[in-house]
Amino acid sequence: MINVIGLGYIGLPTALMLSKNGADVVGSDINQDVVSSLKDGSAFFSEEEINKLYKEVYKKIDFKSEYEAADRYIVAVPTPFDRDTKKVDPKYIVKAVEEIVKVCEEDSIIIIESTVSPGTIDKFIRPIVEGSNKKIHLAHAPERILPTNIVYELVNNSRTIGADDKKVLDEVEKIYSSFCKGEIFKTSIKVAEMTKVVENTYRDINIAFANELAQICDLSGLDVYEVIKIANKHPRVNILNPGPGVGGHCISVDPWFLVGDFPKQTRLINSARYVNDSMPLYVKNKLNSIMIDEGITDYSRVGIYGLTYKANVDDVRESPSMQFLSILKEEDRDKIVVYDPYIKKMMYRSQAFDFQDFLNSCDIVLIMVDHEEIKNSTNVSKLRGKVVFDTKHIGEELKNRAKVYYSL
Ligand SMILES: NC(=O)c1ccc[n+]([C@@H]2O[C@H](COP(=O)([O-])OP(=O)(O)OC[C@H]3O[C@@H](n4cnc5c(N)ncnc54)[C@H](O)[C@@H]3O)[C@@H](O)[C@H]2O)c1
Repeated sequence: MINVIGLGYIGLPTALMLSKNGADVVGSDINQDVVSSLKDGSAFFSEEEINKLYKEVYKKIDFKSEYEAADRYIVAVPTPFDRDTKKVDPKYIVKAVEEIVKVCEEDSIIIIESTVSPGTIDKFIRPIVEGSNKKIHLAHAPERILPTNIVYELVNNSRTIGADDKKVLDEVEKIYSSFCKGEIFKTSIKVAEMTKVVENTYRDINIAFANELAQICDLSGLDVYEVIKIANKHPRVNILNPGPGVGGHCISVDPWFLVGDFPKQTRLINSARYVNDSMPLYVKNKLNSIMIDEGITDYSRVGIYGLTYKANVDDVRESPSMQFLSILKEEDRDKIVVYDPYIKKMMYRSQAFDFQDFLNSCDIVLIMVDHEEIKNSTNVSKLRGKVVFDTKHIGEELKNRAKVYYSL
């Protein structure tokens, strides 16, 4: 039996996929509301493939708040960073493992899927297991899936598994190979920890380079997108697109773990984090100069399109828009119109819940997220006559419809 602990963006799809492929699964989450909605079949997800999978298997999974006596555990709880030290904050995984060791069977395996900095499992988790007087094995199987394409990537991505010996590695491989068609790399726990953090750090540094380039091109009066397009014709160059910042629970968090643990060695990683975190302020300064050029003095005629950290998801954690809104004065934050097709709950005082209502309320549209909705040509047409500050470069068609500022 597999008890999946933490039923969020990562734990739930994993639990569903394991159940679909024949495993006996219990799903545990401390959030009673999450458990209730999963149990009664009423949960709804922004990804159609997850909805389908959920409807197919939810009755086979025992969703509950308590942990189950099992021989296999998969832990997918949050791993934030400490804002002061920048180190991983292990409190959620520690709490989960403390509860697991109370109920688990002899010879069980605890697989940590949550992303952690290298050495975290040895430092914080192993002592709990060793102090339990039970024979328990540890493994780390970090997750790489991309929200918006979760089901496909669960099946097709390659994976990394770390454990202390071959027997445990083989047992853990058996679990994942029940649904994963990708290659499975077996290594030590510490290498597995490091590779996951390194993957997201690589992405963060490359995005920071594009963002720095955007600022250089802006000062030079050049179109950064034209520069990137031509530079990328070089066979060994692949510059990413710039944007208004980096958000989400992974790329904007995991590089800090390395900065926290290796402050002297991480000058590049640290700088990349600062470049990406400074983008919302850069956008604000640009917006203010556009407002001056357009003779618009107050934020009540400005609208922000998009609150989520990337396109076509409902996750606002650490998003550039939230960072942008947090640096506005309170009275301006109350006035500025915000809208996101994926956010149905009220988060800000001047929030619109319909695209046309949103457009009716503003003269300047600040595009922060390139959701499919705004790229659709009917909706691009609706931007006719607006001043648009497009930080996501949603497409050339927009130029024919609105007065567009790029600057990014
Ligand atoms: N979201 C992503 O795209 C993504 C991708 C790869 C890796 N990760 C990593 O996966 C881990 C989980 O991320 P997520 O996005 O699924 O988080 P999430 O916030 O969506 O879900 C975590 C769930 O764990 C529950 N929880 C917290 N403490 C618990 C406990 N002690 N016992 C039981 N349940 C508990 C919470 O109630 C929540 O439902 C993190 O380490 C993250 O870095 C996330």
